[in-house]
Amino acid sequence: MDKPRFYFLNGGKTAELDFANLGFDYLRCPYRFEAVFEHGIWRTRGVVEDNVMHLPEGSQALHYGQELFEGMKVQTGSDGKVYAFRPLENARRMNDGARYIQGPPVPEDLFIRGIEEVTLANLPYVPPYGSGAALYVRPFYLGVGDNVGVKPAKSYVFRIFVTPVGPYFKGGFGPDQGKRFRVSEHDRAAPQGTGHIKAGGNYAASFIAGHEAKGHGYAEALYLDPAEHTYIEEIGAANFLGLKGKTLVTPESHSILPSIVRRSIMEIAEKLFKWPTETRKIPLAELDALDAAACCGTAAVLVWVQEIVGKDKSWVFPFDERWQKLYDELVGIQTAARPDPFGWRYEIQG
Ligand code: PLP
Ligand code: COI
Repeated sequence: MDKPRFYFLNGGKTAELDFANLGFDYLRCPYRFEAVFEHGIWRTRGVVEDNVMHLPEGSQALHYGQELFEGMKVQTGSDGKVYAFRPLENARRMNDGARYIQGPPVPEDLFIRGIEEVTLANLPYVPPYGSGAALYVRPFYLGVGDNVGVKPAKSYVFRIFVTPVGPYFKGGFGPDQGKRFRVSEHDRAAPQGTGHIKAGGNYAASFIAGHEAKGHGYAEALYLDPAEHTYIEEIGAANFLGLKGKTLVTPESHSILPSIVRRSIMEIAEKLFKWPTETRKIPLAELDALDAAACCGTAAVLVWVQEIVGKDKSWVFPFDERWQKLYDELVGIQTAARPDPFGWRYEIQG
């Protein structure tokens, strides 16, 4: 694999942005990375400037939702180096999705090279350590071509853009930042459908639930399992976590997205803190017995769930110091403020 090329704007200096006050919004950075799959092989276009894509009007991504995306964060560490967090896991999850939607996998080294190149090209937009912001990296995958029939594309585009972001839920994490969620009557994915992959259509299907929740003053929708509407699935674009006595619990379901942050938190809890953990079905009614609740994801990081409002019942949860402990360890590992016993940090710039 070729060494990534280096691009420096401003002589490599940090962009003049108010990093500490960014929201979770798209800010156009100068460069993106692109590769195309045609005639059975991936060809790297490398770093490109145009943020507007020119696609055939018959593209499967546009009509039949043959699309996948990923999300990861790149951060400046306490040591001044620039790190991604477990990017190979994102590559693998994208390829699980590619198999499901019947497209070719993106070679893992191409995926990682793309993350490196696009980060280095946009280095001035990587927020400084301690700003609370991160560079959000958005790889995505589109089936493209001149087509009208319901069948997978022959050609694909793999592109990665980046944008500096602040907290996904306004205010982010903290003992004064409890968020309220509303149980939705809608499903985002079918029981044996696409919920476990990061297919764009799942998110279009979630807009109505999000709109209704926000319209009623809640931060997001909480989904129940689509077969019985009995068990907790996830919260918007974040997985659910609960504390029951000493045990950290999280839902098991085929129709939720297997969160990389959740897997990391469960591993931190189990292996570093020696807490008991359980991944299993959690009935909504079991909220009566939970001592605390939270949700987690790349964009969300970790968020204290202060209240869940159902059709005829609501539950209020206190802030639990164990959320703080998990948050500090996770973010500490991501930003080199703590040791990395699992090898999760991926150094992009030393
Ligand atoms: N659940 C959904 C539906 C998501 O979109 C995301 C975000 O990617 C997550 C959970 C959290 O996953 P991760 O921790 O891999 O970002
Ligand atoms: C993420 O956490 O990376 C997400 O993809 C969440 C959302 C922006 C869809």
